[in-house]
Amino acid sequence: MPLFNVYPLYDVTPVSGKGVYVYDDQGAEYLDLYGGHAVISIGHAHPKYVEAVSNQVSKLGFYSNAIQNPLQVKLADRLEKLSGCKDYQLFLCNSGAEANENALKLASFKTGKSRVVAFKNGFHGRTSAAVAATDNPNIIAPINAQQEVTILDLNDITGVKAELEKGDVCAVIVEFIQGVGGLDQGTSDFFEQVYALCKANNTMFIADEVQSGYVRSGKFFAFQHHNVTPDIISIAKGMGNGFPIGGILIHPEIEAKFGMLGTTFGGNHLACAAGLAVLNVIEEKQLMNNVINMSEYFIKIAQTIPQIKKIKGRGLMLGLEFDFEVGDLRKKLIYEHHIFTGGASNKKLLRILPPLTVRKEHINMFFEALIGVLANSEIVEAKV
Ligand SMILES: Cc1ncc(COP(=O)(O)O)c(C=O)c1O
Repeated sequence: MPLFNVYPLYDVTPVSGKGVYVYDDQGAEYLDLYGGHAVISIGHAHPKYVEAVSNQVSKLGFYSNAIQNPLQVKLADRLEKLSGCKDYQLFLCNSGAEANENALKLASFKTGKSRVVAFKNGFHGRTSAAVAATDNPNIIAPINAQQEVTILDLNDITGVKAELEKGDVCAVIVEFIQGVGGLDQGTSDFFEQVYALCKANNTMFIADEVQSGYVRSGKFFAFQHHNVTPDIISIAKGMGNGFPIGGILIHPEIEAKFGMLGTTFGGNHLACAAGLAVLNVIEEKQLMNNVINMSEYFIKIAQTIPQIKKIKGRGLMLGLEFDFEVGDLRKKLIYEHHIFTGGASNKKLLRILPPLTVRKEHINMFFEALIGVLANSEIVEAKV
């Protein structure tokens, strides 16, 4: 049976990983500055993670959400402590899209309304409401298009005010740092006004932290760079270091009812063991400090390279914008220098999303390779 061919693939076959490196089936080493779409947070095959997941799977990998699972309670407690989101409640699921789907559903339950406001270039996943709130018509099927969504420009506070005052908006969903769209950010003033408008109009303010959460931005959550208190915070990518796990943090003012949300696999024992190991390593290794320091180091070097026209993002969620499309550049970095980087819907942007354990020596390796590739006239001639 052939695989359903939906992914354009690089011709590399990683079979193992260690820290910020992966190794292919020929034994070649690759520097991973992409973390498999920002998923690898504490590094590939971290020994504490391997130990925790192996121990758990040898005891009990799964049981459904019909029994007591103290690992979920422990994960919720650790997450509350590390994130500083006091008194929020945790609902666990399996992916980023599912987290946003549940966030939007909960917002609709809570307010009794159904329209969503989202933003240009935003990406929230591929399930029904999440994809409808995503600004990409190519991935919205007719069945998704029946959702009521209004897409506005980031920083268009007049537009947000006009839409919310119509009274039918259940949620505003926002990435505080856009991922797939290309690392754009709204201003603090914008986010704070959106938050106030949500409060005034019985609209839930949803922070999509699927990519920007878990210390990647230099704070536990990217919204914490601004003065807002989201009603719902969705999380996933860095949470399990590759184990599929997602969740939503739910403000104490939103009350749970039996059956309101649910999942078979979400919050299973193995997922919780992975999630707990990640939080333990983030704390023990003080990865937030590493993110801040490595980000500063990376940006300082990037600023010295004239071909880089703009540096976007925060922490270790960074984008380098050129005045040419970066497809060839990425290929050269992978095939000639064995370095993984990412692309974005902005074709001129190179995305950098390394494991949060990255060190100066890895950043130096990247810039040496980048400078070498940029010296290649073919890429410069490929300006568009
Ligand atoms: C901000 C954001 N939200 C949601 C998603 C969807 O997550 P998943 O692919 O786990 O469904 C992504 C994935 O890239 C994302 O970047």
